[in-house]
Amino acid sequence: MSRRRRIYEGKGKTLYEGPEPGTLIQHFKDDATAFNAKKHQIIEGKGVLNNRISEYVFQHLNDIGVPTHFIKRLNMREQLIREVEIVPLEVVVRNVAAGSLSQRLGIEEGTQLPRSIIEFYYKNDQLGDPMVSEEHITAFGWATPQEIDDMMALAIRVNDFLTGLFLGVGIRLVDFKMECGRLFENDMMRIIVADEISPDSCRLWDIKSNEKMDKDRFRRDLGGLLEAYTEVAKRLGILIEND
Ligand code: C5P
Repeated sequence: MSRRRRIYEGKGKTLYEGPEPGTLIQHFKDDATAFNAKKHQIIEGKGVLNNRISEYVFQHLNDIGVPTHFIKRLNMREQLIREVEIVPLEVVVRNVAAGSLSQRLGIEEGTQLPRSIIEFYYKNDQLGDPMVSEEHITAFGWATPQEIDDMMALAIRVNDFLTGLFLGVGIRLVDFKMECGRLFENDMMRIIVADEISPDSCRLWDIKSNEKMDKDRFRRDLGGLLEAYTEVAKRLGILIEND
């Protein structure tokens, strides 16, 4: 893709100009980062797995009427997506206590939550993506009250879909992060799901052994990240062939 204009370089992905106006090419890199990029490692093949798993999730979301930016996969590391204006918020949905929730509130990891909890984080590397309330979001103009409602409705639908999808293959969806974008089409603007949904952005635990099958393997130096992501792909029936 070196001949295409680079639009944005993130920690795990690069966005290039797409073949048509309103499209972009999303390229998945092998970089693993954690703790606001203080920890960094190249894990060869991670990008290929995330591209395929994210394709699988987004294609199914499109199929059940949850709007996403995904159009089609182009090759092992790249997918064609719709260009959106990214809302500067990370939407986290939690079903089971883990990670920062457990740390912040002293709830033991693995505790089933009484209901799914939605949180918002302000996307800002310098500030370390702080958690923010709806008051902050509207006061500082990061999203309107209607957009917050739309993002929450999307988050609940994505959570319901992902919970069932993973449960069917023996995996517990502990929590996940999603991002949203504004799509401008026919003089209309609507909120759709953007970025990626992969083991980099979800906590996935084997239902029987509670073994972690997600990026916590890297964050917590457990090793075996590639094997875990490959197992997730395999259970979903995704064949990783070289193309
Ligand atoms: O660290 P924390 O417990 O808040 O993470 C909640 C969920 O959001 C986890 O699944 C984690 O992988 C994801 N996340 C992410 N990107 C971030 C922060 C969290 O994908 N910048």
